[in-house]
Amino acid sequence: MILFIKFPRENAEMTEPEIESFREAGKMASKIREESKALIMVGESLLDVAETIEKMITDEGGNPAFPVNISINDIAAHYTPGFGSEETLGETDLVKVDMGIEINGGLSDTAYTIDLGSQNEKLVEASEKALEKAIESIRPGVPVGEIGGIIEETIKGYGYNPISNLSGHMIKSNELHAGVEIPNIRTNDSYQLKEGEIFAVEPFATTGQGHVEDLDMVEIFSIYSPAKVRMRQSRKIIDHVINNYGMLPFAERWIRKEFKSKLLVSAALKELLENHFIRGYPVLREVSRGLVSQKEHTILITADGCEVLTK
Ligand code: CO
Repeated sequence: MILFIKFPRENAEMTEPEIESFREAGKMASKIREESKALIMVGESLLDVAETIEKMITDEGGNPAFPVNISINDIAAHYTPGFGSEETLGETDLVKVDMGIEINGGLSDTAYTIDLGSQNEKLVEASEKALEKAIESIRPGVPVGEIGGIIEETIKGYGYNPISNLSGHMIKSNELHAGVEIPNIRTNDSYQLKEGEIFAVEPFATTGQGHVEDLDMVEIFSIYSPAKVRMRQSRKIIDHVINNYGMLPFAERWIRKEFKSKLLVSAALKELLENHFIRGYPVLREVSRGLVSQKEHTILITADGCEVLTK
């Protein structure tokens, strides 16, 4: 999950109990991620896959940190099936599953790619290898722009392009994007990694040019800044979101399940978007319609390297 909101870079170290919650969220995500791979089969319903994974998370005692993203082929990220969706996985689909868990404010964010047609195994390997190489080089003092360089060179070594306008991100308690980014290309960002910081590292490799653009389609939202709302339904939805998801992203289908009427929900979401109470995360597609693979882990920076929390 990418999320572009940027907050100021401030220094507030996490406490040991906070880090423990991240470890717990990471361990649970790793277990569910591995179990979920069995669901990715030709003909399977996207909605069933997303809802099954989300149920696995709540059954284990966690909360989804964001709606399960299932992004296929040239869609890079931020797609989750809508309410009542009848889409199914196709024979040659390149399927990216991105999931996250929240436990007591601790967050995990992890993703994998499955190539149902077995025609794009190298592309899948490129993002996996890029993540492996990035993790090997992560330690305190390394500039984030250099990690981007390692990701870029690894992916280009396979003959593909990294997606330059998607990046990994620092994570803090209850905050999926805490300002600092780990780019997927070499940049001159000299921010140096520090012990105790937590990051999601997520290389994307593509057969295309290496950029994504926003589509008009939006299925995922989060609270942005409180504003006045006119409609009664909007206030009810906002109360529900604050009580259940806080500042974390939510899916329109989650709201539709709670507030049955399609018309009222879409009118309320429209009002909330217009006055910036919430923001949407448009579905991201590779500009040249290239295929996209992704692999993601959440890591904790240690004194001499890093601990992969979602191993
Ligand atoms: Co992420």
